[in-house]
Amino acid sequence: MQEWQSLLKYITQGVYVVGVADAEQTHAFTAAWVMQVSFSPVLLALSINPEHHSYQLLKQGGVCSINVLSQQQMGLAAHFGQSGLKDKMAVGQWQLAKTGAPILQESLVYFDCKVSGELAAGDHQLIVCEVVAAGKLHDGLPMLYSETGTMDASDALYDE
Ligand SMILES: Cc1cc2nc3c(=O)[nH]c(=O)nc-3n(C[C@H](O)[C@H](O)[C@H](O)COP(=O)(O)O)c2cc1C
Repeated sequence: MQEWQSLLKYITQGVYVVGVADAEQTHAFTAAWVMQVSFSPVLLALSINPEHHSYQLLKQGGVCSINVLSQQQMGLAAHFGQSGLKDKMAVGQWQLAKTGAPILQESLVYFDCKVSGELAAGDHQLIVCEVVAAGKLHDGLPMLYSETGTMDASDALYDE
């Protein structure tokens, strides 16, 4: 990792639990790389490592939920940031949205989305999705990615 790469944490990002589903199962992972990319229609984009288990379900199901975490929810960010967990979805209260994507009931706000496009972006895939429903579940301030420190162990993912 080069010295300047630590400066990327100054690009302001939130922390989200992205819920995915296919016909058989639901799953979720923590993501920081989420942003709005269109007003009309309202489109959000997220960047996902195609090696994540969540990616297979996202491809097959074509739906996702984007659940905004609050500053008090470091535990949830860490839990859904782990892979290979049995019963990952046993943590949190989940409810299926219109699209079939799982909504995290503890989140501040959720967006229920349908995937509308995909683009290769280096070692990730950029997923563009259309918001079909959204709701506010709790009051609070959104968590910032910069507050999660080394939780995602991303220092090891840069080239030397
Ligand atoms: C704070 C934080 C932010 C993360 N942001 C992303 C992200 O934007 N995109 C991504 O693909 N993975 C991101 N990750 C990593 C995934 O959450 C992690 O690899 C997870 O284990 C994938 O779960 P799965 O394999 O069960 O789908 C992040 C992890 C943390 C802790």
